[in-house]
Amino acid sequence: MERRTIGAAALAVGAVGLGCMPMSWAYSASLRRGDESLRAVHRALDVGSSLLDTADMYGPFTNELLVGRALKERRSDAFVSTKVGLLVGDQHIVANGRPGYVKRACDASLRRLQTDVIDLYQLHRADPEVPVEETWGAMAELVRAGKVRALGLCAVGARAGRRSGARPHDVTIGQLERVQQVFPVSAVQAELSVWSPEALETLLPWCATRGVGFLAAMPLGNGFLTGRLRPGAGFEADDVRARHPRFTAEMMAANQPIVAGLRRVARRHGAHVTPAQVALAWVLAQGPHVVPVPGTKQERWVTENSAATRLRLTAEDLREVAGLPPAQGSWD
Ligand SMILES: NC(=O)c1ccc[n+]([C@@H]2O[C@H](COP(=O)([O-])OP(=O)(O)OC[C@H]3O[C@@H](n4cnc5c(N)ncnc54)[C@H](OP(=O)(O)O)[C@@H]3O)[C@@H](O)[C@H]2O)c1
Repeated sequence: MERRTIGAAALAVGAVGLGCMPMSWAYSASLRRGDESLRAVHRALDVGSSLLDTADMYGPFTNELLVGRALKERRSDAFVSTKVGLLVGDQHIVANGRPGYVKRACDASLRRLQTDVIDLYQLHRADPEVPVEETWGAMAELVRAGKVRALGLCAVGARAGRRSGARPHDVTIGQLERVQQVFPVSAVQAELSVWSPEALETLLPWCATRGVGFLAAMPLGNGFLTGRLRPGAGFEADDVRARHPRFTAEMMAANQPIVAGLRRVARRHGAHVTPAQVALAWVLAQGPHVVPVPGTKQERWVTENSAATRLRLTAEDLREVAGLPPAQGSWD
């Protein structure tokens, strides 16, 4: 698989990573199977999708435990990317960016992941009660202690601050400027996909000009852009899409022209090419510093998604995707 380098430390990873979140969190809980998930992780490592993206809060904790089972056998094949800073309660999720907590959480992640070092340690969300520089300072100490190789920051929603007239991701860029003064940012993780392109406006260029890598979360639009979700079929009660404004039957129907466009582009490249692969190839085309991390718990989707690195979109393809209607349905 094509390799891409991210950040000042020039970390080399497969151009398409693997988002491990759906194995333990967010989607269709009744379909989670530990052994199938483990096969998916091994398949990713077999094909060179080395970046495994997880977080202590996925599960919580069980996603790191699962990834740790694979790492125990194949640590050298993998690039481990995990996150800190969110705590899951019964009915709520809270940020904790206190330095002492961050250091304890890192030790716990290392134990669960069955490794001595985390390749990329990301701040999942900034804690509004702790200056972000303090949290980042504690994370930098983890690098100096040899427990972590590089640091990343997950962007808050593109819309944060919009009511005050700010551009998408302005809040995040403010945080990034501040933490850069403390210790280099190697990667930023934020949503980027055909139906959520806001990061292209300011965040992606910010990363590109500073040599910072960009991990594209939700590159398949939480599954929508694969064209395999039927409007009105419904979601399990605890599936995030059951409450997501773009996943009501009405909005899913309204957004079908986006899937139809991806399908048209796919057909031009051959009968075997899928809308999911076009969606990922579009993300890959946004810059050499961009690494999509499509999430899945299924081996077959890992195989399909990793093959997107062989698909080269033409100028005509990119124009067609750019001309698709904007997605309908929003959190605002
Ligand atoms: N930093 C953050 O705050 C943040 C937030 C969200 C996500 N993330 C990261 O980004 C990763 C990706 O995001 P995501 O998983 O939410 O969304 P996504 O990658 O856009 O979509 C995941 C969904 O698509 C399905 N899928 C994947 N490949 C497919 C294919 N080829 N054909 C048909 N269906 C396919 C998966 O199904 P199955 O579940 O059945 O496999 C899953 O339901 C996560 O795993 C996580 O690591 C980070």
